[in-house]
Amino acid sequence: MKIGSVTLPNNLMLAPMAGITDSPFRRMSKAGGAGLVFTEMLSASALARDSRRTTGMLKFADEERPIAAQIFGSELAAVEKSADIIRSMGYDMLNINFGCPAKKIIKSRGGSALLKDLKSYENVIAASVRGSGGKMPVTVKIRPGLTPDDDRTEDYVRAAEAAGAEMIIIHGRFVSQIHSGDVNFAAIARAVAAVKIPVVANGGIVSELTAEEMLSKTGCAGLMIGRGAIGDFGIFRRILYYLENKEKLSAPSREERIAMYKEHARLSAEFHGERGGVIILRKLAAFYLKGLPGAKRTREAINKAESVRAFNDALDGIFEHQWSVDSE
Ligand SMILES: Cc1cc2nc3c(=O)[nH]c(=O)nc-3n(C[C@H](O)[C@H](O)[C@H](O)COP(=O)(O)O)c2cc1C
Repeated sequence: MKIGSVTLPNNLMLAPMAGITDSPFRRMSKAGGAGLVFTEMLSASALARDSRRTTGMLKFADEERPIAAQIFGSELAAVEKSADIIRSMGYDMLNINFGCPAKKIIKSRGGSALLKDLKSYENVIAASVRGSGGKMPVTVKIRPGLTPDDDRTEDYVRAAEAAGAEMIIIHGRFVSQIHSGDVNFAAIARAVAAVKIPVVANGGIVSELTAEEMLSKTGCAGLMIGRGAIGDFGIFRRILYYLENKEKLSAPSREERIAMYKEHARLSAEFHGERGGVIILRKLAAFYLKGLPGAKRTREAINKAESVRAFNDALDGIFEHQWSVDSE
């Protein structure tokens, strides 16, 4: 798959997730087979003000390439400047968030607030294209509309293409649905039909079969996976294998899941510092340990761990539950 000048190794992408898709998470996703990874959303205004925290969040490792940075915002000068900063930091691609339903983001006129105002939406894309100086493709992440009664898919995708976007990712749920409920396959299919640039589908892809369903019902050029990848990075490789061979690889064993969590903790400690890196991974325990006997007690132990060693010891505790059925 090609996006502007960037060739991807495959058409499966890791979704941007605030507070989750940091550099260690993205490295784990690449190792699991993702063809493109995204940073979490960053404020264009904060970046343009050169907020050190925000530029710190843009740090990435070479092995994450190809990599896209995602921004949100509506101040055109800030958007243009942040695109320039992102390009100069060596990112392969820029993505603009037009789907975030969070009140704080909407209040700052970013994210899905721009879906209410097509002119500003176009202007933000055009400012990003200017800031990227033709050296980095600009892409957008949108929704079909604010509510099911307000489906404006074709308007959004045509306007994005006309303003210079080179790929459109569509999370097939309306803004009013936040992140749950049915995915509107028909809206994604209409997006695919309305433009020449690649359209990537997102929402509810958690397995080989949901990936196949998304592809067959929408005709999309690529797939983006969010929550399905948390604690299960091999999902990318399994989906790729299934789409090619129509045969399933086995899901990771308990031992493999625990080993993956430990490796994630090692990378996280390396990147964020030992204590912070371990603590930040506590919130992913429910994903990593889902359905495993002894998950509850192991989670409690993880929540006390402040070093990689204590974290690993807490995880090893799960093997004591070999024959017991969890009482959760
Ligand atoms: C915790 C969390 C954080 C998210 N943060 C972002 C974000 O920073 N930028 C963005 O475009 N979407 C964000 N999303 C939305 C996801 O990128 C994705 O569109 C959504 O989760 C649907 O995909 P899924 O069903 O595969 O999870 C977030 C979703 C979750 C659950």
